[in-house]
Amino acid sequence: MSDQIDALLTENREFPPSSSFRKNANVSDPAIYSKAKSDRERFWEGWAEQLDWQTKWDRVLEWNPPHAKWFIGGKLNASYNCLDRHLDKRGDKVALIWEGEPGEVKRITYRDLHRDVSKFANGLKKLGVHSGDRVAIYMPLIPEAVVAMLACARIGAVHSVVFGGFSSEALRDRIQDAEAKVLITATSGYRRGNLVPLKKVADAAVADCPSITDVVVVMRRPAAEEADDTLRMQTGRDRWYHEVLHDADDNCPPEWVDSEHMLYTLYTSGTTGKPKGIVHTTGGYLTGCIATTKWVFDLKDEDVYWCTADIGWVTGHSYVVYGPLALGATVVIYEGAPDWPKQDRFWEIIERHKVSIFYTAPTAIRAFMKWGEQHPQAHDMSSLRLLGSVGEPINPEAWMWYHKNIGAERCPIVDTWWQTETGAILITPLPGIVPTKPGSATKAFPGIDAEILDERGNRVEVGGGYLAITSPWPSMLRGIWGDPDRFVKQYWSKWPGIYFTGDGAKRDEDGYFWLLGRVDDVINVAGHRIGTMEVESALVDHQSIAEAAVVGISHDIKGTGIAAFVIVKESQRAAAIKDPAKFEQELKQHVTDKIGAIARPEKILVTIDLPKTRSGKIMRRLLRDIAEGRALGDVTTLADPAVVASLKERYEEES
Ligand code: WTA
Repeated sequence: MSDQIDALLTENREFPPSSSFRKNANVSDPAIYSKAKSDRERFWEGWAEQLDWQTKWDRVLEWNPPHAKWFIGGKLNASYNCLDRHLDKRGDKVALIWEGEPGEVKRITYRDLHRDVSKFANGLKKLGVHSGDRVAIYMPLIPEAVVAMLACARIGAVHSVVFGGFSSEALRDRIQDAEAKVLITATSGYRRGNLVPLKKVADAAVADCPSITDVVVVMRRPAAEEADDTLRMQTGRDRWYHEVLHDADDNCPPEWVDSEHMLYTLYTSGTTGKPKGIVHTTGGYLTGCIATTKWVFDLKDEDVYWCTADIGWVTGHSYVVYGPLALGATVVIYEGAPDWPKQDRFWEIIERHKVSIFYTAPTAIRAFMKWGEQHPQAHDMSSLRLLGSVGEPINPEAWMWYHKNIGAERCPIVDTWWQTETGAILITPLPGIVPTKPGSATKAFPGIDAEILDERGNRVEVGGGYLAITSPWPSMLRGIWGDPDRFVKQYWSKWPGIYFTGDGAKRDEDGYFWLLGRVDDVINVAGHRIGTMEVESALVDHQSIAEAAVVGISHDIKGTGIAAFVIVKESQRAAAIKDPAKFEQELKQHVTDKIGAIARPEKILVTIDLPKTRSGKIMRRLLRDIAEGRALGDVTTLADPAVVASLKERYEEES
């Protein structure tokens, strides 16, 4: 990682927008930056005006740091904005092009989607779901997942989507925390040719969730092909999605909600062992989504837009569902893995559906690089006109590969920095205006005040520090579900009234931002956030483990992988030593069972002690040095410096 950062900071290639792209771009006048800065509220109000409101707001912003309200007094509905308002002009336009992993293709028009959402919304109402109630969604990437989200929004219910790769315990914790009333799931989903038994996992979770009254299940495959335990329905609790839809009326007037009505909660990892439910509300969030979708992706009516994220992540919320659908786009969604059945699946999809805008993550790009350029070369991808990247810093090498092999040196690349908490993209090039530099997310979006600050909150003009956002923006999180203190402590207490991102960054002489990764105890594994404490809790939950310390290590594809140092309980040591490889596998599997495969450690090292300061804090910095094979940093504050030396020796032997 440090080599990569050094490479980043000496990067001096620059790619200005081509004149043809600039000529047709949705925004091409650089003056919009200063215009937005001179009247930020007016700038955002202009975007809010591009949504449909049932009642207009009377005030744009109320800011009582750290609490913001946007478009106060306004009433609207997110599903109305994503569906109803397009029916006149775009009723027959395809809203979703879906590909299942085995190869099925469905095209769903705005009219069809509106009908299904209305019906399912009525179905939810029949189950007793009211405005403000939480509904958990645990599904593969199938059109019904989008229907479920929009149906919640239609009746003012709050969705809480849980990524289908999470374990039953992770699902259970999230349902319990949100006190969800209904769970929407599917029998199964596909992943690399395998079936993921979602219903079975959901059953295990719901067994401990007294708040759940009903479970709605989508039949993913013909019943004859489903496994028995994914078909088992609990009488009185479970019902089939297709039956709910069949029995429901297709007229469901949208529930007009207050601009600050909660639209969803989405759990993300932080610095404690427990993921937190990030709260987003309706008016400001949608405003941020449409502004960025239109300008960053240069989205036009005729585009075929594909963001490869799953709806289990914020990228799927803002840039698969709410942004593009609120703008009436044609959106591609794909259920499965990029290398199934072959490593050219993505390029095949781009060719088949004539995708023009493609948005993916650096971890995927690094995998494509490894698989080789013969795969994209075998496909006609001339429909592409813009590429995006999100989720982690993109190394210049991957950026150049993307530019050359996917973008044919023709497509601008937008490297977009943002977070679950920010709701929408905050740092990004505007493709018709800003020359890009490989590895830099470039500049704050107009109307966003981003700064580099030092520990004490002093502004760093050129150089490194913490990335901070110094004034409120419409799509910012409104809180952490059920934990107002943590909201203040986590984001707003480093410097009062200023949003602390948890990311380190540098600004260069041209004012460009270069993101350097997390500065807290969050690891970004393949673009997914995992808390070190979460993995540590999962490890000490294993009967043999007394103590664990987890750090991030460089990984060719994932960017960062997980390394764990564990102390085995004395009583269990003999068993652990007998077959170390088997023991390591068992621990890895345990973490997978507790959290999900994304948290599976790359490497586990059994140790008899951990380096600690005299006050008893584990020195992760040293563990990182050991795990990365670097020279050891300062050990003077260590209680027992010998611990580190012996650990280092062991780790090097095993690597
Ligand atoms: C990282 C994903 C560098 C960052 C949208 C942030 C990035 C975390 C970029 C949020 C980028 C996201 N360049 N780093 N373009 N985009 N990150 O909440 O560390 O899943 O804090 O939201 O991902 O991850 P989250």
